[in-house]
Amino acid sequence: MAVEMTFSIIKPNAVKKNAVGSIIKIFEDKGLKVTAAKMVRLSRSKCEEFYAEHKTRPFFGELVDFMTSGPVVLMCLKGENAVSKNREIMGATDPKKAEKGTIRALFGDNMGENAVHGSDSPVSADRELKLFFESNELVNP
Ligand code: RTP
Ligand code: MG
Repeated sequence: MAVEMTFSIIKPNAVKKNAVGSIIKIFEDKGLKVTAAKMVRLSRSKCEEFYAEHKTRPFFGELVDFMTSGPVVLMCLKGENAVSKNREIMGATDPKKAEKGTIRALFGDNMGENAVHGSDSPVSADRELKLFFESNELVNP
């Protein structure tokens, strides 16, 4: 098993419903450590760059509107197999299909407003962390 870092976003709907603490508690209880975090309002251009792989999808405009609609919490999570562990803890993209007890089942409202983002591979995690954090912000225990 390898200790990894992954990138997590608590999305605007979860921030709005005051679930930041509850979500971080779930990550911590399941063995992931928050090693960097900041609350920001994403600019449209940064958000479009982040979601570049979805540029041609029909939901792209709606996704960027939602993700820039209010503050988000950007985090680096660290732990054994952090990338896949985070995806498990989040649950399926569609909250209706997410397993009971997962963050999206608990706090997701619909397919778009699904409470959290998590990197889908170690390569994505590296790209996404570098997009939002300076290298000195990621030097952590
Ligand atoms: P994420 O990137 O946010 O962690 O989510 P994911 O891997 O589970 O899903 P992905 O396919 O990468 O889609 C990115 C985000 O786009 C929104 N989405 N909306 N309306 C739709 O059909 C639709 N499909 C995807 C979701 O917010 C999803 O998290
Ligand atoms: Mg994804």
